[in-house]
Amino acid sequence: MSDPTFQTQFAERIGGANYGKGTEIYKFEKIKRAKRKALADHPERGLVDFGIGENDSAAPENVRSSMAAEINKTENRGYADNGITEYKQAVARFMKRNFQVDLDPATQVNHCIGSKTALAMLPACFINPGDVTLMTVPGYPVAGTHTRYYGGVVYRLPLLAQNDFLPDLASIPADVVAKTKLLVINYPNSPTGKVATREFYSQVIDFAKKNNIVVVQDAAHILLSYDDKPLSFLQVPGAMDVGVEIHSHSKGFDMIGWRLGWVCGHPKIVQAFADVKDNSDSGQFAAIQRAAITALDDDSIPTRIRAKYKRRLEKLVSLLSRCGFTCKMPGGSYFLYTRSPKGLASGQVFETAEAASQYLITEHSIVTVPWDDAGPFLRFSVTYEAADEKAEDALMAETEKRLKKIQPVF
Ligand SMILES: Cc1ncc(COP(=O)(O)O)c(C=O)c1O
Repeated sequence: MSDPTFQTQFAERIGGANYGKGTEIYKFEKIKRAKRKALADHPERGLVDFGIGENDSAAPENVRSSMAAEINKTENRGYADNGITEYKQAVARFMKRNFQVDLDPATQVNHCIGSKTALAMLPACFINPGDVTLMTVPGYPVAGTHTRYYGGVVYRLPLLAQNDFLPDLASIPADVVAKTKLLVINYPNSPTGKVATREFYSQVIDFAKKNNIVVVQDAAHILLSYDDKPLSFLQVPGAMDVGVEIHSHSKGFDMIGWRLGWVCGHPKIVQAFADVKDNSDSGQFAAIQRAAITALDDDSIPTRIRAKYKRRLEKLVSLLSRCGFTCKMPGGSYFLYTRSPKGLASGQVFETAEAASQYLITEHSIVTVPWDDAGPFLRFSVTYEAADEKAEDALMAETEKRLKKIQPVF
């Protein structure tokens, strides 16, 4: 196909005149293709899918009923702009009850159409060309992508096993720190499953204050915390002076497709976010916000979802341990992040986690997501579809049978 007349007009940030001509295939597309091939070549084998990063259940019944009622109310019909007051108040109640965090709903809370959009918009509040955003890797890259869109620079902070998957702030060169405007962190962390400690958050706050840096803590997985009660960044003294936390209805309330979350914390940052947002979208449908109030006021929902994913992760950890993997229960999220095998007992060698992951999909129909950014690791998600515990156990037994046959070597 010949180029359109406007081919040279694409912005450099998405590839300029070469936009759409790249031949590189991205990780998730490679996984999709390998899945399709495994299904076509071995339909009898059945796919064991630990690759999906989305909740496997629909939103709770009381939330759906609330939505059914709200959708018929004419007062919900219009632009919701920066959000309805009742939703902000429900967020403030939720943050107080769950984290003992006091928020003024009028100035310290603003909804977003999913936390992804907030991560995309916050760089617009701070990043001028040449400014730096510190991003942990592996991680959710959206704030970094938008930093680059604004002419900013991303400095990557590797999350290494030897550092307990926390970034080493002291390792950042002074000239980088001097240009840094944003530090984006994410705990419980995706994909490592690591949870932050109060001590780590205190270090982050000291670092931010000393260097005049704004902290964005992505708490999308916070309700899936397994060891202790979930910890909010804003619970730690000083956090409110330096940053915001972004929350989501996706993971902890099984509302992933509903597209709702919130930004909370320092009023001036919330205000800047609301200004950018107001120039980007017209707010999430008020009926969704009202149904989400039902979710925020019902603590049994996250309790139930947490128990399910904890149970599934425990089963996965013991099965993988029996197959030679070194892994332990993650502190949070529905991901198990574990060192990728170097090869197999047969002598086959994997140079990267991506190679191991491709082999597992194509040869044994076991889907994982590889990460090679900070050492070779595989991510197993426990969001697979299984109707009940018996079906979960059958899936675990099938996975164990396949892995024991190949005998991974580490
Ligand atoms: C770490 C992290 N942050 C943010 C998001 C975005 O979540 P949502 O836009 O559904 O709120 C995700 C989704 O997978 C995530 O894993």
